Amino acid sequence: MRSAAAIGLPGRSPLLILGILVCVFGSVALMGFLGFILRGIVVDQSTLISEFPTPMYLQSDGTVRATVHVGGPFRLLDANSGKIVSDADYLGKWQLIYFGYTRCPDVCPTELSHIVAALNLMGQRGALITPIFITVDPKRDSAATMAHYVGLFSPRLVGLTGDQQELARVEWEYNVYVLLNPNTVSGNNYDVVHSAYIYLINAKGEVAAIYPPNAEPADLARNWMRQLAAGKV
Ligand code: NI
Repeated sequence: MRSAAAIGLPGRSPLLILGILVCVFGSVALMGFLGFILRGIVVDQSTLISEFPTPMYLQSDGTVRATVHVGGPFRLLDANSGKIVSDADYLGKWQLIYFGYTRCPDVCPTELSHIVAALNLMGQRGALITPIFITVDPKRDSAATMAHYVGLFSPRLVGLTGDQQELARVEWEYNVYVLLNPNTVSGNNYDVVHSAYIYLINAKGEVAAIYPPNAEPADLARNWMRQLAAGKV
């Protein structure tokens, strides 16, 4: 970058400094804006995916509204069966999809417990919905790791893993934010910052509703009962 003197401007006038500030912050803002527009995927040096998701908004009924189309096909490895499964295998059934990773210290265990508790609260109706946990950390979440982990929550919880590229695509479809926390990296130990929404998928394979983290199981169960009933019409 050329100095102010080299480009023939008088000293450091307040206006020049203001201009530089506007330029610097303007560039940062512009790049951030472009990131939002493009929903670009940036692969960082550790091969984990960071992403600029579009904003999601909490609505008065407790569900979340996305500003872009959310959801789409997937082809991933079912940790329990060892078979590749796709979204087509679940057509005709309702599903809950949650993205996270098995070494998550707090958020994922809480959310998965809430999902299982809410399904239990629904009684027999809960059996109509298949809960699915998709890892955002395939480097450490092998099929064996996932199979063990989901079993800790419920025998009904499906664990899906896959290669980084396919997972990144699915994360993009679902507008999931995934970022390696660089402050926590120590060998194979690191935290992954990720969005923690719960996606309810209807029998047609469409996202019927999105729920924020920390929703109460009773509220989730009530909403899912309503969604199931509405879906029958
Ligand atoms: Ni987590």
